[in-house]
Amino acid sequence: MKIAVLKETAAGETRVAASPETVKKFIGLGASVSIEAGAGVSASVSDAEYAAMGAAVGPLSATVADADIILGVQGPEPASLKGAAKGAWVVAGLDPFGQRARVDAYAAAGFEALAMEFMPRITRAQSMDILSSQSNLAGYKAVIDSAGAFGRAFPMMMTAAGTITAAKAFIMGVGVAGLQAIATARRLGAVVSATDVRSATKEQIESLGAKPIFVESVAGIEGEGAGGYATEMSPEYQKAQAELVSAHIAKQDIVITTALIPGRAAPRLITDAQIASMKPGSVIFDLAVAQGGNVEGSMPDEVVIKHGVKIIGYTNTPAHLPADASALFSRNLFNFLSAFWDKEAGKPVLDEEIGDAIRLTRDGKVVNERLLG
Ligand code: NAI
Repeated sequence: MKIAVLKETAAGETRVAASPETVKKFIGLGASVSIEAGAGVSASVSDAEYAAMGAAVGPLSATVADADIILGVQGPEPASLKGAAKGAWVVAGLDPFGQRARVDAYAAAGFEALAMEFMPRITRAQSMDILSSQSNLAGYKAVIDSAGAFGRAFPMMMTAAGTITAAKAFIMGVGVAGLQAIATARRLGAVVSATDVRSATKEQIESLGAKPIFVESVAGIEGEGAGGYATEMSPEYQKAQAELVSAHIAKQDIVITTALIPGRAAPRLITDAQIASMKPGSVIFDLAVAQGGNVEGSMPDEVVIKHGVKIIGYTNTPAHLPADASALFSRNLFNFLSAFWDKEAGKPVLDEEIGDAIRLTRDGKVVNERLLG
C-alpha cells in the first residue's frame, strides 16, 4: 500500500496534505509514503523532516508511480497522476460542484475519487471533517487580520494619557468559523455580539460571553435544515433581519461575516447603504467572499475601501495559516483512513455510510448521487 502526497498546484494554495506526524503514523499502519519534493515548504515542513519520518522524497513521477492512495488538499490535476495504480484513490477536498470536469476526468482515468468535503456530519466523522478544521482556523484568522487592518486597539486600555474604549465586534453566522471568531475577538478584548438564523446558536453565543442579536418578531422561524446546516429564510424574515442588522451595524467597529447555505450562493447580509452607516476606519471581513460574498462590494483577495470602511476577504483563508491548517487537514485525512484500516487487507475498506457519501467516481463512472441528481 503506497500513499503519495503531491505538491499542491492551485494558485495561492500553501497547505500540504500530510505532516511529518501523519507520515509516521501511516508507516506505522504498514503503508509506505512518498512525498513530492518541496510539497511541505510553503507550510514550513522541509523534505528532510518527512524523510526523517520514513517517507521517500522525490520528483512527481516517482512519487505517483504505482501509488494506491494519492492525498491532496485540493484535487490534483488528472494528468499529474499518470503511473498511479489502477483504481487508485484520490483523497482530497475535490470541490465536486466547482470542478466537475476534473471529477469526470478522474472517472475516465479509472480513479476512485473521494471528496473529503462530502464527509457526513455525524459524531464519529467529526475528527475527519476538513470543513470544520479549516473553518475553525479561518474564523480565528479573520479576526486577527481584521485587528491588523484596524487603526485602533481591541481592548479597553486605561493609560496615563487617557482611556481607549474597547472595539465592538459583530459576528454574523455562528457555525464553526463564527464560534471561533467570537472566542478570538473576546480574547483580544473586544465587546462581541453575534447573530445567526439557527436559533440553537443563541445559547452558544451567550456561553462564549457575547451578546446574541436575533430576529424575534417573525413567527415560526427555526432556520436549521438537514445536517444542522442553515436553510434559506423567508422574505419576511430577511426583511426583519436586515432592519435589525442595520440598527446594530452602524455602531460596530469590526464585522466578520461567515454565512453559508450549502449548495447555494452565500446570502447577502450587508448592503452598501449599511456600510455607509458605519464609522470610517471600521473593518469588515467577508469569509464567504469565495462563495459570492455576504457583503456588497467585497472582492476576493483585495482590500476594498468603501465609505471609509475596509472590506477584506480571502479566497482561501486557511491557506493564510498554512502550518496549522496543514497539520489539522493532515490529521483529518489520517483519522479517516486509519478508522477504516483493515489489518488483514493492509488497506482501508470503507463502510457504506461514509463511503457512499464521499465517493464521487468508481469503475470509470461518476457514482455520487449529489452529482447525478
Ligand atoms: P456553514 O459554514 O454552512 O454556515 C456558517 C453559519 O452561517 C451557520 O451557522 C449558518 O446557520 C449561518 N447562516 C446561514 N445563513 C445565514 C443568514 N442569512 N444570517 C445569519 N447566519 C446565517 O456552517 P458550519 O460552520 O459548517 O456549521 C453548520 C452546522 O454543522 C453547525 O450546527 C455545526 O455545529 C454543525 N457541525 C457538525 C459537525 C459534526 O457533527 N461532524 C461538524 C461541523 C459542524
